[in-house]
This record gives sequence, structure tokens and C-alpha cells, in this order.
Amino acid sequence: MKLEILWLFILHAFSCHAADVDCRREPKCVIARVHKMKTANCYDKQFKNFPKCLNTDVEIIDLSFNRIRKITKADIDRFKYLKFLYLADNLLTNIEIDVFEDADDLTTLDLSLNAINRVPPVIFQLPSLTSLYLSQNLNINIVDAIEVSKPIVSPLTQIDISQTTDEDNYSDFPNFGILPFLLFLNITRNFYFNLTPRFFMGLCNLQKLINDNVTTDFEDPCDCWRINYWLKDKHVKFSPFRCAIVESQCKYTDFKEEDLQLYNQCKEKHAAIQRSNLILKISIGIGVALIIIIILIVIIYFWRKRKNNRIKHNSTIKKHGVDDSSPLNVQGKAVSNEYSL
Ligand SMILES: *[C@@H]1O[C@H](CO)[C@@H](O)[C@H](O)[C@H]1NC(C)=O
Ligand SMILES: *[C@@H]1O[C@H](CO)[C@@H](O)[C@H](O)[C@H]1NC(C)=O
Ligand SMILES: *[C@@H]1O[C@H](CO)[C@@H](O)[C@H](O)[C@H]1NC(C)=O
Repeated sequence: MKLEILWLFILHAFSCHAADVDCRREPKCVIARVHKMKTANCYDKQFKNFPKCLNTDVEIIDLSFNRIRKITKADIDRFKYLKFLYLADNLLTNIEIDVFEDADDLTTLDLSLNAINRVPPVIFQLPSLTSLYLSQNLNINIVDAIEVSKPIVSPLTQIDISQTTDEDNYSDFPNFGILPFLLFLNITRNFYFNLTPRFFMGLCNLQKLINDNVTTDFEDPCDCWRINYWLKDKHVKFSPFRCAIVESQCKYTDFKEEDLQLYNQCKEKHAAIQRSNLILKISIGIGVALIIIIILIVIIYFWRKRKNNRIKHNSTIKKHGVDDSSPLNVQGKAVSNEYSL
């Protein structure tokens, strides 16, 4: 009997110990507050797997410059408040299709400098994602991923897909469709088959196109001039594409009607979202104002009620003084009544 208990005790101690060892073996991240957010700084800590023992309430995880090969949905789902995830410079190859499916709060995802050739299309549906960095993943399937997930729902403002194409393996330009919030697009050192103005029409608020050393063909050589003209006209900062044809040979302001429509749709969508945001803000403002007014009214009501009560109280005391003589009055009345009889 005693031996059994001892045995159980040893077994228990051993299993606890084993679990502890796992976490003790795992590299330690530095937990700090950055911009008021709980941050796990795991930069260059020799992680080979996604951390299993990290506090699950962190909002920022920096796992750049490690040796992680794989991430799973369970790895990501443990972190309910995750907003920023940096996984640049790891050994990621394939990312399973559902990994980020429930990362509703994720605003920034950095997967640069890996060997990813399949990016999960669900990334383009994440409701909070504003910044997506995919640079230096050669032959990553951005074009396919976008085709599958179109239209893109994520409110993306920054995309970096620089150095994702191979000199020996040109790619189509990713057709983002309408991205009304996109401000920065980095396509540095890429190789594209065919560029047309259409690709930029749905990026109607683009501020900066970083296109150094982009090698591209134009099926219609005049598209080169059209794109340069369009981007300049919309005050986008970029390096003008070098065109193989003389400018004077092109009528470069004749954009296709359907392309211009895409631009207008993008502008309209942007305006509509701004409008609904404004309405939301105004409603919240009105709501807050109403609550304050109601609270004030309640306070004033009770304040006046108390004041009135005090006055009433005072006046009842005074009345009581008068009331002392009331029996006389009644008697007086009674007397007068008697007389009237
Ligand atoms: C070329 O790139 C595509 C994706 O852009 C990829 O699927 C394909 O495997 C690449 N081909 C070679 C030979 O690397
Ligand atoms: C654009 O990408 C290139 C190549 O990856 C990089 O060197 C550069 O810093 C990026 N530019 C910006 C503004 O992000
Ligand atoms: C463009 O390529 C040239 C030659 O390969 C290189 O010298 C230059 O630094 C590159 N520029 C950028 C911005 O990447």
C-alpha cells in the first residue's frame, strides 16, 4: 500500500519534471511592453519550433532570425490577442492552408526571407491585416493565392513582394483587384511577363510604388508610357519604367473604359468605407454625449429632489409651528358654525 503511493508519487513527480524540461529547454524570449503592447522579443534565439511555452497573452511576437521550419494552426490559435507576428529569416517552406484562419486581430505579418512557395490564400481575407511582408521568398505563389481569394477583403495598406520572382522564371503581375487602402507596394527586383495599366487602377490611393530594378515586358509597348503617365498623374512616387518605344509613337492617355471604371469603383469603395467610418464615429459621439446628458439629468434630478426635500422638511417644521394653533382655529370655526346655527 505504502509502496504504491510512493510509486504514484514518483511517477507524478517524474511526469511534472518531464513537462518542465520541455519548457526549460525552450529558448527564452524577452517579455516587454512596446507601444503599450505586451511583446515577446524572440529575435535570434535559436528557435527550431514555434514557441510552446510563451505567455499566451502577448500581442507582438518577434521570431525573426530563427530556424523555424513549420507553423501550425494550433501554434497561432493559442495567442488570442496576437496583432504583430514577425517570422522573417526562418526556414519556413510550406505553410498549411488553415494556419492563419482565425487570426482575426492580426494586423502585421512578416514572412520575408524564407523559402515559402505556397502562401495560404486566407491571408488576404484576414479582417485586420494591414501590413503583409513576403519579400525574398522565391517563386512564392502570390498570383494563385490572390486568384483563389479574390476579392481581397483585408484592409491592406502595405505590401512587400520584392524579390519573389526568379530571373529564370518570370511571373505574372499579381492582380490585386481593388485595394482602396493600399499606400505602399514594394516590387523591387522582380521579373514580370506583362504589365498593364489595369493592375494599378484598383490601387487608387497608392502613394509609393517601390519598383527599383523591376524587369518587365509589355504586350502593348505603349502600356509602358501609359503606366508612367497614370502613376505620375496620380502623384504616386515611383521610378519611371524604361520604355522600349519612343514616347511620340504612343497615345498614352487613352485608357480602356473598363480600367477607368475599376479606378472609379476603388474611389467609390474608399469613400463609402470612409463615410461609414465617419457615421460610426458620429454615432459613437452622439451615444457618448447622450449618456453624459442622461447622467447629468439624473444627477440634477436627484440633487433638486434632495434640495426640495430639505425645503419641504424645513417648511413642515414651520407648519408644525402653525399647527399648534390649529385646534384653536378648528374650535373657532366650530364656534362660528354654532353661531350660524
Ligand atoms: C516558377 O514559379 C512558379 C510560381 O510563381 C512556381 O510554381 C514554379 O514551380 C516555378 N518554376 C520553377 C522551375 O522554379
Ligand atoms: C523594398 O524591397 C527591397 C528589396 O527587398 C528592400 O531592400 C527595400 O528596403 C524595400 N523598400 C522599402 C521602402 O520597404
Ligand atoms: C539594381 O541592380 C543593379 C545591378 O544589379 C545594382 O547595382 C543596384 O544596386 C540595384 N538597385 C536596387 C535599388 O536594388
